Amino acid sequence: MKIAIMGYGTIGSGVAEVLRVNQDILQKKVGEPVELKYVLDIRDSIPEDNDKLINDFSIIKDDEEIKLVVETMGGIHPAYEFVKACLESGKHCVTSNKALVDACGSKLVAIAKEHNCNFYFEASVGGGIPVIRTIYHNYAGENLTEITGIMNGTTNYILTNMREKGADFDETLAEAQRLGYAERDPSSDIDGFDTSRKTAILLSMASGNRCRHEDIYTEGIRNISKLDFLYAGKLGMTIKLLGSVHQIEDQYFAYVVPMVIPKSDPLFSVDGVFNGIRIVGNCLGTTMLYGMGAGKLPTASAVVSDIIAAVRHQNEFQGIGWSEKMISIEPMSSNAFSYLIRVEGTYDDIVDDIKEFFLNEDSVLSPIVLDGRNDEFALVTDIMFEGDFMENVKEFEAKTGRRIFHFIRTKKDNSDDI
Ligand code: HSE
Repeated sequence: MKIAIMGYGTIGSGVAEVLRVNQDILQKKVGEPVELKYVLDIRDSIPEDNDKLINDFSIIKDDEEIKLVVETMGGIHPAYEFVKACLESGKHCVTSNKALVDACGSKLVAIAKEHNCNFYFEASVGGGIPVIRTIYHNYAGENLTEITGIMNGTTNYILTNMREKGADFDETLAEAQRLGYAERDPSSDIDGFDTSRKTAILLSMASGNRCRHEDIYTEGIRNISKLDFLYAGKLGMTIKLLGSVHQIEDQYFAYVVPMVIPKSDPLFSVDGVFNGIRIVGNCLGTTMLYGMGAGKLPTASAVVSDIIAAVRHQNEFQGIGWSEKMISIEPMSSNAFSYLIRVEGTYDDIVDDIKEFFLNEDSVLSPIVLDGRNDEFALVTDIMFEGDFMENVKEFEAKTGRRIFHFIRTKKDNSDDI
């Protein structure tokens, strides 16, 4: 099969490298050579070190020999127009572009179906971790009740370093940028939007329907401090940025927030730039996928796995159940959590107020106090709906004159009797 790559940045050149290094393995696995014919780079000045480089998309679209196109340009335009035109010409398309998949994925799957070809996007979530195919193929017979993951290597690297070095956010981000682990403009990672797009794609895969990442409540990690880690550490817990989806009958919950998690959670040990995705199914129980969620070759490896699928299914649409029906996500206020809260002052004279607003009648206050600090303490609240919690914070502050300096969600509870 002759193929083209559109976009010759880190991932595109990684795909070319994997195809070259593993060409014999690939040929054996799919029964025919996979030959790279063109590399499209639409930047004004393109490097001239590659005889396959072109800068005119129509050469790819009009070349009937090209049966498969890899899109690694990033962004929505012109990636969408190019992929759409290729699918309409019956060319299989493979992408690593989460913005494109999040915004247009269900539409592109429908166009692929209409033209009896395939649109694959394994590399758009979790880099080298095969999470997309696992959900829509391997777990097609499951009622997936929860998918929760660490899906952003940059923020996981920063949080891991804050915990290990006892450092604050700003200095850790600056060091991550100096070492090349964080972008110069890190907003998409640290404000949670990268995770939110990936979470939307996973919810789409699990539900078989469309959702908007803009509807997913998203908080990043800018407000996490070394004090938060000290309190979490006293509980034997740590803090991770999680993207989470829950399906309860026909209700969908999704959010991206930093959470305090216990050692017993398999995501606890996912450190540094690694990603981990925990999937819960009604028959499956809990499973976790772990690996490199970013990087040139891991991501290229996922793209190549899609190329193999396309060669194997070159004469048929391989059903990805992704309808264009839009699902609605329940408001954040209807999720129930317990919260690690940091309260101003000492606790002796406000025990009753704490109990009134944050604990159940029969719960005992177990304050967490850091050595040498009497300006604040922390506690873990009982489980309550987020809407009630927000009201309680306001009322507690008004009644006691004490501030809640910060809160981080811990356990999520899906039971009816809260
Ligand atoms: N910026 C992303 C990360 C790259 O840090 O994980 C992969 O989407």
